[in-house]
Amino acid sequence: MTTQDELKQKAAFKAVEFVESGMVVGLGSGSTTEFAVKRIAERLKGGELNNIVGIPSSIRTEKLAQELGVPLVGFETHQEIDVTIDGADEVDPELNLIKGGGGALLREKVLAQASRRNIIVVDESKLVPKLGTNWALPIEVIPFARYTEEKFLCALGGAVNLRTNVDDTPYQTDQKNLILDTNFGRMDDPYNLADQLNERAGIVEHGLFLGLTTDVIVAGEGEIKHLKQNELSPPKTQK
Ligand code: A5P
Repeated sequence: MTTQDELKQKAAFKAVEFVESGMVVGLGSGSTTEFAVKRIAERLKGGELNNIVGIPSSIRTEKLAQELGVPLVGFETHQEIDVTIDGADEVDPELNLIKGGGGALLREKVLAQASRRNIIVVDESKLVPKLGTNWALPIEVIPFARYTEEKFLCALGGAVNLRTNVDDTPYQTDQKNLILDTNFGRMDDPYNLADQLNERAGIVEHGLFLGLTTDVIVAGEGEIKHLKQNELSPPKTQK
């Protein structure tokens, strides 16, 4: 394992300490969250946890959980999640996020909005002073609207890149949509940008997760940090 993987694992294992027997657990997507899913499976097998059900945020996470024997349910039976554990691409000082590096942003946001507690697990390289510092914003669009939304995003000042697979074919999300990775540079007002993106019919969802995070577990060289939203000034809420 690389040092970065070790940090991801540390953060993920810490987050799983907040999972208790009987809970409905949201299972995010990405390499950091995969450590958490594996840890939940271990604790279930070891008998430390029981009566857990998971709701996965992607087909990939669903498969992993099934392979590891984590029982899964859907929103048809459980509309509220006790705790979701998920990763992020960037975390700002208000605990706002850019997500979607793995393409699962839409379902991830559905889970986040249905969760009482959202624990984000990251290594310290994900902490940024402003969103947009290192990552373009993933924006999921329906294929029909690709070019209209591209034009709209350019007019907002974004540099747009269609996400592709290794063979250069367009990447498709679990919903068979496209992703426009759009670089807006460092964002001074992510709430305003989110409002503008939310207005567009062709944009299904974007990777700005604003006011949704309750906890961030950060693993670095030193001690693990636990950042909590309720210890910050009151969050603004996303429309
Ligand atoms: C998946 O769509 C993403 O939101 C991931 O949670 C995010 O990209 C973090 O992934 P890693 O844990 O692999 O860095």
